[in-house]
Amino acid sequence: MRLLDGKKVSQDILDEITAAVALLPRAPRMAVVQVGDDPGSAAYIRNKIRAAGKTGIESEHVHLDGKISQSDLNTRMAELSASNLDGLMLQLPLPAHLNEGEALEYLDPDKDIDGFHPVNLGRLISGLDCYVPCTPAGIRELLKREEIPTSGRHVVIVGRSLIVGKTAALLLLEKSDLGNATVTVCHSASDDLAVHCRQADILIAAVGRAFLIKADMVKEGAIIIDVGMNSIEAPERRSGYRLVGDCDFDGIGDRAAAMTPVPGGVGPLTVAMLMSNALQAAKRYIGQEN
Ligand code: GUN
Repeated sequence: MRLLDGKKVSQDILDEITAAVALLPRAPRMAVVQVGDDPGSAAYIRNKIRAAGKTGIESEHVHLDGKISQSDLNTRMAELSASNLDGLMLQLPLPAHLNEGEALEYLDPDKDIDGFHPVNLGRLISGLDCYVPCTPAGIRELLKREEIPTSGRHVVIVGRSLIVGKTAALLLLEKSDLGNATVTVCHSASDDLAVHCRQADILIAAVGRAFLIKADMVKEGAIIIDVGMNSIEAPERRSGYRLVGDCDFDGIGDRAAAMTPVPGGVGPLTVAMLMSNALQAAKRYIGQEN
C-alpha cells in the first residue's frame, strides 16, 4: 500500500505560495474568526495561523465569545469584510445557538477564502471561477500531484457536509481532467453502506466516526482518502487521547492501493489550500490598488 503523504504535498504547495507571496508588493492579509472554545477548532486555527506566518501571509485570529448573539456575529462578519483584509473565514462548527448559513451571508463573497458564501457555492456549481472550499480542493490537488486519475472512475463519498462531502462531489463531477468522475454520495441514512463503499475506485470518508470504514468495505486496489479527524481515548499517551480517521487504517492497508494517513493526510492540505485562496484574494485586491 502506497502512503499518500499529505504533509509532503502540502509543504510543496506552501513553498510555491511562499515564492508567489514574495513577489507581491505587500503581504496578503487574512483573518480567521473563531466563536467559542471548541478544542478541535482551536487546533485547526493554530495550524492555519502558523502556515500563514511561514508563507509570509499576515493573519489575525479574531476570537469571539461563545455566547455572542446571531446579530452581533453577523455585524462582526460584515465589519471584518469591510476592513482592509484581503480574505477571512469563519471556523466551523459554531455553537449550537448560531446559524452558520446566516453568518456566512454577511461575508463579502470576494473575501470568502473558505468558499462557503452562497455566491461562491453558486459559482462552483455553475462551473464559474470562484474560491473553492479548501478540503475538497486539497483532495483534488493531492490526487493530481500523486497522478491518480479520476476521469471515468467511481468515487464514493461517505458524508454529505458542506465542508467536504457535498462540495467534493461537485468538484469531482466537473467536466475536466481533474473531475469527470462517477460520484456516489452516501450519508448516515444510507442503506447498505458497505455495498456502496465496495464499488469505489476512490473512497472518500468524511463522516467523523472513528473506524467506521473497515477492510471488508473496501475494494481490492482502491484509493482511500480519509478526511476523518476523531479523538479517541488512549491511556498510554500522556495527553490521554489520539487522533484517528474514519477508516480502519491497519486493516485496510492490505487491500487498498494507496491511502492517506490521519494525521498527516488531508488536514495539512486543507490548510495549504486556505493559504492558496488567501493569495488569490490578495492578488484580486492588489490588482485594484495599482
Ligand atoms: N472546520 C473543519 N474544517 C473546516 C474548514 O475547512 N473550514 C471551516 N470554516 N471550518 C472547518
